[in-house]
Amino acid sequence: MAPVSAMLPRWRLYSWSISLMSSGTTLCLEGAEFQYPETGKKVLKGIDLEIRAGEWVALLGPNGSGKSTLLKLFNALLIPSQGRCFVDGMDTKDQANTEIIRSKVSMVFQNPEDQIVASVVEEDTAFGPENLGLSSEEIRTRVKEALMGTGLWEKRKHAVSSLSGGQKQRLALAGVLAIRPGALLLDEAMSMLDPASRRSFLDLVRKEHDSGRTVVQVTHRLDETVLSDRTVVVADGKIQWQGSTEGFLSLEESRLREMGFAKPPLAVLREELVKNGILPPSTKPDISEIRGKLCLSL
Ligand SMILES: Nc1ncnc2c1ncn2[C@@H]1O[C@H](COP(=O)(O)OP(=O)(O)OP(=O)(O)O)[C@@H](O)[C@H]1O
Ligand SMILES: [Mg+2]
Repeated sequence: MAPVSAMLPRWRLYSWSISLMSSGTTLCLEGAEFQYPETGKKVLKGIDLEIRAGEWVALLGPNGSGKSTLLKLFNALLIPSQGRCFVDGMDTKDQANTEIIRSKVSMVFQNPEDQIVASVVEEDTAFGPENLGLSSEEIRTRVKEALMGTGLWEKRKHAVSSLSGGQKQRLALAGVLAIRPGALLLDEAMSMLDPASRRSFLDLVRKEHDSGRTVVQVTHRLDETVLSDRTVVVADGKIQWQGSTEGFLSLEESRLREMGFAKPPLAVLREELVKNGILPPSTKPDISEIRGKLCLSL
């Protein structure tokens, strides 16, 4: 009998192999507009944006520019008033797609209290998989995997109220990871964390990205974006700038200031070290990467 690959058309084989290689989800906006019915004010004014499976996109912009609204289009919490939003090719407008879209795209909010639903750590993590109607064995497997991954396994029997703010944010992430979504949406998820917790949270996000998940990260801190592939700046409901994060962080200080940003000190240091031939241009403005490459070059 002929192998399966010989029986499939070429395009089908291609998309099949991509889906085996990557667990990431594609997110796409086509001329998306949005207005909240309460105010009637247009908040998103025609956004075209395609985020590839497995891509890490940093979404920046001033307060009130529409970043959170844009994220909510991707998990069908909001539906564009004009234009369309697709998740892995599925139109979010079609209610028949909502359940599968919510299992593919999960959001972590700024305040973990907004998404913690149970009083015991492991029960909270089990909530998402339970809602997916999975078997109790599968739920146990996922809870263990998510709590081990976020460093909370030892605390699985503890009351949620006994966790620190940083641990609660990791618990919120564990709840999302237990759903095994293809895309993680982070809405200022690190803004309430101290520097050490931010670093460990960012490490978790890096691991998820390395495993193939799509990440869209809203933040006001450029130093949190250095590991992302692409930066998109939104201003007044429109895309003001987009390109590689490396390119964004290498823009002239004056251009960054015009858009309301200050170049992070690590990006300035990296630029100087690259200019002086001490570091290769491929170095990311990330402290571990700079330290590692400096040790190699000295
Ligand atoms: N539920 C709502 N009802 C009416 N207007 C809203 C609602 N949520 C947000 N808005 C308005 O929509 C605009 C965009 O808000 P959004 O929260 O998307 O901005 P943002 O870029 O995430 O801002 P921030 O950086 O402060 O979080 C703002 O003018 C805001 O006041
Ligand atoms: Mg917001």
